[in-house]
Amino acid sequence: MINEYENENFFQQYAQMPRSRDGLASAGEWHQLKPLFPPLKGKTVLDLGCGYGWHCKYAADQGAEQVLGIDLSPKMIAQAQQRNSHERITYRVCGIDAYEYPENQWDCVISNLALHYLQDLDPVFQKVFRTLKQDGIFLFNIEHPVFTAGIGQDWIYAEDGKPKYWPVDDYFLPGERVTHFLGCEVRKQHHTLTQILMGLLRNGFELEAVEEAEPPAEMLDMPGMKDELRRPMMLLVRARAKK
Ligand SMILES: C[S@@+](CC[C@H](N)C(=O)[O-])C[C@H]1O[C@@H](n2cnc3c(N)ncnc32)[C@H](O)[C@@H]1O
Repeated sequence: MINEYENENFFQQYAQMPRSRDGLASAGEWHQLKPLFPPLKGKTVLDLGCGYGWHCKYAADQGAEQVLGIDLSPKMIAQAQQRNSHERITYRVCGIDAYEYPENQWDCVISNLALHYLQDLDPVFQKVFRTLKQDGIFLFNIEHPVFTAGIGQDWIYAEDGKPKYWPVDDYFLPGERVTHFLGCEVRKQHHTLTQILMGLLRNGFELEAVEEAEPPAEMLDMPGMKDELRRPMMLLVRARAKK
């Protein structure tokens, strides 16, 4: 399977984003995601859709004993190896669907902004539950259903070019949404809030935290950031595997 991150044009545009140039400090959600990590010293951590590997590096810097970052895109894995290598991190080209999820292997499974590329979350939740140890933590950030149900995932603009409102439609029709991002056609999957949260509960997880990303005050002067307070773009969830 080829994703847009293998498209050279998209890949180059992605490389120019602040979060790609400067890492987690430039990610609007990091101030909310970081406190949701469990203590990682001596722990094993799996990152699903690791991209450049920022979260893998964070885990290793926190003392994680073993970190595996998987991503479908060889280009992204090459970047991860270049920018965020560490003796306790392994990067591997592998799809989230294709990974083997060995039983009781990981203390923590993380996934940042990758799960909305998957059509069906339930089988992934089931496999993540299997691969987590007793009381292991699944921490993820997925595009928010209000965002993925946005028409064309874009604002309606006023005549002066300013965003007027965020249109939502077909909320209860989960599935593929074709959008345009960074000059490319990007295919993502819309999941309702019920599907995401009930999917976790159905598969044995206990919900510990649910948050909707709001950029911090010090980032509000960055282009477009104030508009991030007008509708939620990201949903952050921390769930515990109760076995
Ligand atoms: C928005 S990037 C996020 C990267 C990284 N988690 C971060 O936060 O910096 C999404 C990543 O998910 C990867 N991806 C998309 N679909 C995937 C799949 N089915 N299996 C594995 N990786 C996937 C893409 O290649 C890309 O690197």
